[in-house]
Amino acid sequence: MNDQAVNDRLERIAAGWDGAAEGYDAYFVPRFAPWVTAAVQAVEIDDTRSGPVLVPCCGTFPELDALIELFPDREIVGIDLSAEMVRRARLRAGDRPGVTVVEGDASTLDPRWTGNCAAVVSVFGLQQLPRPEHAITSWLAALGPGGVLSVVYWPDVTESDGPFARMDAVVRRHVPAGDSAWEDELVPTLRAQGAVIERDDRPSHPMSHPDAPAFFDAYVRSGPLSALAIARGDTFVAGLRAEFLRGAPQGRWDHRPRARHIVARQSTP
Ligand SMILES: C[S@@+](CC[C@H](N)C(=O)[O-])C[C@H]1O[C@@H](n2cnc3c(N)ncnc32)[C@H](O)[C@@H]1O
Repeated sequence: MNDQAVNDRLERIAAGWDGAAEGYDAYFVPRFAPWVTAAVQAVEIDDTRSGPVLVPCCGTFPELDALIELFPDREIVGIDLSAEMVRRARLRAGDRPGVTVVEGDASTLDPRWTGNCAAVVSVFGLQQLPRPEHAITSWLAALGPGGVLSVVYWPDVTESDGPFARMDAVVRRHVPAGDSAWEDELVPTLRAQGAVIERDDRPSHPMSHPDAPAFFDAYVRSGPLSALAIARGDTFVAGLRAEFLRGAPQGRWDHRPRARHIVARQSTP
């Protein structure tokens, strides 16, 4: 992907999340909470490690309360591409001292963070970045010696059956699958930079939706398909919705999607 294509993609993604932010906060944040909790609780650092905790792709910042509870005296910095997500994250942060939210691309962190941070925590952002294996290298580089990276993301395959799987199958008929080879490169990339991998697992948690139409509407209007919906328009979305609902289960829909959680510790000299 050349630089122009990367910038176009970032703009589309930001616009998608601007429109999705309110619904995302209401629908997905409570459903994603177990993964957010796990990502935060995996950060084990003692008081001898100085520096802030960075949260790339913080969205409305659901990580914040758990982080403040664990690290009441540390600076905590959220970073997100979407202006509306940032506005909501700042509302959540209120006037709590030491908490800031920066609007910007978290794929490559500002050099001022390099080697200075105690932890980097990111939930469900990595898979959206244009070059995830580069982003994770940048996140690791932000850590000082002994600092911890805790990243949860949605892998290419999250379940064999369920609303996520059905959505993937329907969308694939219209949009070619992206290359998921980067997923295999994450751990080798981190190890090559000297990091110690402390965890690489696939946590799954129960999730429930009122019914298939409610799930589809949330996913497309308030979730990861928002950018595609804006780009393709209402007629496309109506067709996609009809395909999705054809043969979908009736009534409440329960599933257990599987994310990936990687925890890596920066080497100490
Ligand atoms: C699924 S939301 C996750 C938000 C939050 N971490 C959570 O767990 O609820 C993904 C977020 O990543 C942000 N995002 C996508 N691409 C980004 C980029 N290149 N830089 C910073 N944020 C980005 C989106 O704006 C969105 O807020």
